[in-house]
Amino acid sequence: MNSMVNILVLGSGGREHALAWKLKQSKICGKLFVAPGNAGTAAIAINIPIDVTDFQQLKNFCIEEQIDLMVVGPELPLVEGIVDYFRQFPVLANLRIIGPGAAGARLEGSKAFAKDFMQRHHIPTAKYLAVKKDSLESGLSFLDVLEPPFVLKADGLAAGKGVLIINERDQAKHELENMLNGKFGKASDEVVIEEYLNGIELSCFVLTDGEHFVMLPSAKDYKRIGENDTGPNTGGMGAVSPVPFADKTFMEKVRERIVKPTIQGLKEENIEYQGFIFVGLMNVNGDPFVIEYNVRLGDPETQAVLPRIKNDLVGLLLACSNHELQHQRLETDDRYAVTVVLASGGYPGDFTKGKTITCLEQLKTCLAFHAGTVTDRTSGLPKTNGGRVIAITALNINLEEARLTARENAETVTYEGKYFRTDIGLDVMNYKS
Ligand code: AMP
Ligand code: GLY
Repeated sequence: MNSMVNILVLGSGGREHALAWKLKQSKICGKLFVAPGNAGTAAIAINIPIDVTDFQQLKNFCIEEQIDLMVVGPELPLVEGIVDYFRQFPVLANLRIIGPGAAGARLEGSKAFAKDFMQRHHIPTAKYLAVKKDSLESGLSFLDVLEPPFVLKADGLAAGKGVLIINERDQAKHELENMLNGKFGKASDEVVIEEYLNGIELSCFVLTDGEHFVMLPSAKDYKRIGENDTGPNTGGMGAVSPVPFADKTFMEKVRERIVKPTIQGLKEENIEYQGFIFVGLMNVNGDPFVIEYNVRLGDPETQAVLPRIKNDLVGLLLACSNHELQHQRLETDDRYAVTVVLASGGYPGDFTKGKTITCLEQLKTCLAFHAGTVTDRTSGLPKTNGGRVIAITALNINLEEARLTARENAETVTYEGKYFRTDIGLDVMNYKS
């Protein structure tokens, strides 16, 4: 490899803008491309109009542009096997890819696989039973012995909508049948029924080379559209990092009880894994339980986590693909990061795109990561192009100050129908264990 590293980031959200922003700061970052990217990535990298699941075109592009490092942002190409596809081509033997092959991506692509994996490796998680149409009866009996509320999860990827939490037993039984009858298409051919865990959620991010790992700062995201966690689920309306209740003792439990056995388990099962693991956790009276695995970074958690990492990200990712993560120490900024997502009015329901975004140049002491934006060809101005539009991140040693700065800047950005939550980070400030 040349001393300069040519990089391709796959994806088009705020996570990918944050990744590109951080990679670009590296002294060894060569050419930087994002496929397909957004108006924010266009300002710091070269956007390539190729879909993240168009493996053939992506492969051709990597060969033509002599890409050295490909960072896969979203889960879909990983679950669909982009890493295995690329590995078939000897000409790409030197391309380093951050993201697991299809076998590792099952940790996210199949909830039943993930639960069985945790059970095999004694990783704390909620009690569960995975059922298919022909085992409906055992599912109904399992619902009879669980206490409400009841958690039903479609096994496969369902665009973040495949989890139902239901208070009434009869309704849970009814929904179980609906799911097995195709409520979420093929994704719910199998359904995981879970015990409900009562606690407070947080996310923990790990970068692993398959043997060693580094733990990135903890974060908490805010999934509901409304203030105080009300209303429908979204992709994520904000994030805070670090999480005050994830103290040293708690994170040590996460490392010993969850992260180590997860990586050891992958190794024992001969699943090669170079990439990020996002562990969704529930803190139940000071003990961590896994809610889910994702095989990528979170969005919008990344927009809060990456600005707090001082290391050179290209160096860290190269160490990962060289199986040398044991030599890396993560250096973090002590300040809190608060990320507020600006959404399109109506999101997560129907919304209109194409609203001109102004006043971005007036933002102060914050970072703005674009998500659903595109540059208007005529005016050259950014306009809205998705439900989540821009994530504003503010850093401050004082959490309340970080909250205020993020909010002030969120107010400054202007476009028709702008909506954001004003309570991001408030609950963790007030949290008493
Ligand atoms: P998942 O897609 O598995 O992350 O689930 C979506 C959301 O449902 C999680 O972020 C939790 O808020 C909630 N959830 C999932 N599983 C459980 C559980 N066993 N107990 C309580 N809440 C859960
Ligand atoms: N913020 C949750 C996720 O990225 O899945």
